Amino acid sequence: MTSGRKQKIRVARPPGARRGGDAEPAPSPRARYAEMQPALLPPRLEGLSALTKPGVRGYPGIDDAQALLVQVMRKDRVKGDVLDLSAMGGLLGSLPGVTLRAVEGSAPALAVLEHAGLTPLAAVPGDDLSGHWPERARTVALVLAGDRGNAYAHAQVAWAHANTPPGGTLYLAGDRDKGFDRYVRAASAAFGTGETVARDGGMRVAKLVRRPGPTPPIPEPEGYEAHGVTVVGRPGVFSAAKPDRATALLLDDLADLDLSGRTVLDLGCGAGLIGAWAARRGAQVTLVDADLQSVRSAEATLAASGVTGEVIHSDVDSALAGRQFDVILSNPPFHVGRGVVLDVAREFMAAAGRLLRPGGAVYLVANEPLPYEQPLARVGTVRERVRAGGFKVLQAIRS
Ligand SMILES: C[S@@+](CC[C@H](N)C(=O)[O-])C[C@H]1O[C@@H](n2cnc3c(N)ncnc32)[C@H](O)[C@@H]1O
Repeated sequence: MTSGRKQKIRVARPPGARRGGDAEPAPSPRARYAEMQPALLPPRLEGLSALTKPGVRGYPGIDDAQALLVQVMRKDRVKGDVLDLSAMGGLLGSLPGVTLRAVEGSAPALAVLEHAGLTPLAAVPGDDLSGHWPERARTVALVLAGDRGNAYAHAQVAWAHANTPPGGTLYLAGDRDKGFDRYVRAASAAFGTGETVARDGGMRVAKLVRRPGPTPPIPEPEGYEAHGVTVVGRPGVFSAAKPDRATALLLDDLADLDLSGRTVLDLGCGAGLIGAWAARRGAQVTLVDADLQSVRSAEATLAASGVTGEVIHSDVDSALAGRQFDVILSNPPFHVGRGVVLDVAREFMAAAGRLLRPGGAVYLVANEPLPYEQPLARVGTVRERVRAGGFKVLQAIRS
């Protein structure tokens, strides 16, 4: 992932891991990664509940902005149908009298919402929801993902506007340090009203009642040419406007790798640069991402680059049961929302052990300080191929 040369990455041990080592605890890391559990809630949300699992924003607790949002909605005694465009673990559905319409783009969040019996809808900003819910709910809730950039937050606001009927109310939450005031100004201009009604540390909640008026446009995708590929970067997708330096190092380092006719998995594909690059070199590619917006981006990248491949919306390998690959390529994530979390990256490496054919190879790139060698050693002997610009490329051949 992107980062400068001087990297200070504090790595939290996974729950249950032993001190002095990065090894996964017994019995099975996969079972632990897939496990649904009640989210840890702050005392002020007593009486409410949500499910969570690794990979969901806020895990093992809940997202701070969502916590404040729900507090405000509880105080307002909101009841009836509520459209939640960033449902995460379904916290809003536990408000008494609320019927939740849960929308999510994150595969881990969709899994917990389904587990909770909430029949969520997988969608991204700009999707038309009227086929699913012909009548719009009068209350809409949204947590701005300011950490996903300006274009994504504006797309979220436009989407919330399109889905709030005139006279309906939007509860908008976000982080002051991630541009909340700016986005509220934009939202208020579109809605015709709006004021910040709650503050807690850096978290904010605004309430907007929609007056008649046009919906702002959803920002267009960005794009670039790199490594022989035309990348289509939809708003909010990792490295949407230019190649990530770590990814570029990985692809430069693998320039001589023969991928012709090989089955290649791009795990955590983002906009699809790695997978499209492999397809252009004759590989049969599968691209996977937990984020639906990234899946749509990667599909567009394959098409724009004139190559074919399958793109799958999946929490790591949860939708890849029984599949095997010759090669896995990855620049694993180490953030979920605002926090540095390595559960997902560790699961990427565990998945490599499950998905590679014997003799198959995984190549991944990471910031130098990230302790990936030990979990990768479970796949096979680890070799550091190159170290440059604050990153390292690691390889393991499945024994
Ligand atoms: C560092 S980015 C790399 C993106 C792309 N491969 C590149 O090099 O530009 C990591 C990607 O992993 C995805 N991701 C995060 N959690 C995931 C999960 N649980 N399962 C699958 N993909 C995930 C993110 O959405 C993001 O696109």
